[in-house]
Amino acid sequence: MKVIYTDNNATTKVADEVIEEMVPYFGQFYGNPSSMHTFGDQVGKKLKQARQRVADLINADPDEIVFTSCGTESDNSAIFSALNANPDKKQIITSTVEHPAILNLFKFLRDKKGYDAVFVPVDKKGHLDTDMLYDSLSDNTAVVSLMWANNETGVIFPIPEIAKKVTEKGILFHTDAVQAAGKVPIDVKAANMDMLALSGHKIHAPKGIGVLYVKKGLKFHPYLIGGHQEKGRRGGTENTVSIIGLGRACELAAAHLPVMDKEVRQLRDYLQEQLLEKIPSVSVNGDLENRLPNTLSIGFDAVEGESILMLLDKESICASSGSACTSGSLDPSHVLLAMEVPFKSANGTIRFSLSHYNTKEEMDHIVATMVPAIEKLRAMSPFWKDGKMV
Ligand SMILES: Cc1ncc(COP(=O)(O)O)c(C=O)c1O
Repeated sequence: MKVIYTDNNATTKVADEVIEEMVPYFGQFYGNPSSMHTFGDQVGKKLKQARQRVADLINADPDEIVFTSCGTESDNSAIFSALNANPDKKQIITSTVEHPAILNLFKFLRDKKGYDAVFVPVDKKGHLDTDMLYDSLSDNTAVVSLMWANNETGVIFPIPEIAKKVTEKGILFHTDAVQAAGKVPIDVKAANMDMLALSGHKIHAPKGIGVLYVKKGLKFHPYLIGGHQEKGRRGGTENTVSIIGLGRACELAAAHLPVMDKEVRQLRDYLQEQLLEKIPSVSVNGDLENRLPNTLSIGFDAVEGESILMLLDKESICASSGSACTSGSLDPSHVLLAMEVPFKSANGTIRFSLSHYNTKEEMDHIVATMVPAIEKLRAMSPFWKDGKMV
């Protein structure tokens, strides 16, 4: 059965154009870009092109691009660099709804390294409490790190505005733009970013390649100390093949931004409308007007997200749930809890995240699967009686 893939915030299909660009660099052009010979230099030249393509997606200069192994490494590198640059400052600020790449790092820094970590809350729609953020800034703040767009709900924070206010105070600002890249325009110059993280596998490049944008002139302390690669900002022989693929993926992502904004948004809205129309007791999480165009976080009362996923999986439909299903616990996600989404709805939340590869027929198939699936689960649910939640 053909897979219907609507889990693009988890990872994406590597685009055929990206694979095509990468293939010669596996077996044919395998030189080390740092070598003095022409064979290695050929790869070096191709990396230069890739660096330019990545820079273009976010309006950076190529020298401001540091290749890493993933979004998590980019986030960690940014924060450790900021702390090393400000050894006397002990306050660090983020939000309650970050990805674990930042959230767990901040908890580690608080619990094991004695930092005063501030987790700025969000409201019911997922908007950041910017008043609290600005009130928290002080001479003791080493870094502020906030995500551009949320991976679960798609809610977008006003990052350019926040970055401007934070950096005006001389405080370092990092943004995790892993979910925003390729879905909304990013302009690091206009937004006055200090550092920004991207991840290849969210934009149709392979897994295992990330980017940290580091503003020109910013004192950067490498996280991986080693060779002179990446102008001394990240030791280790470059993942040449993936970097080349990422370059092409960034070029495609830039070209597809209008498609994301129109066609993918329309598909997502269609799916949302259909589900809301055909199934009772359903609610959409997050600010509907201020979301990534591809993301739909939708809660079905009185059922469990995992059970829905299992029924979808039988139809080869890939989506994800809003629960952090770790170590056997089925707690609703920290993002939905932070937004005070009622447990009955958070527990039955499904995230559909689309890409330009999805079609209207696929959306129709999802709806046709969901309607009886929810009915079936509610018929067995102790929380559902006579067509409503009890
Ligand atoms: C917002 C956000 N930040 C960071 C990451 C981590 O990226 P990677 O998987 O490349 O480490 C993810 C991945 O899900 C993400 O959604």
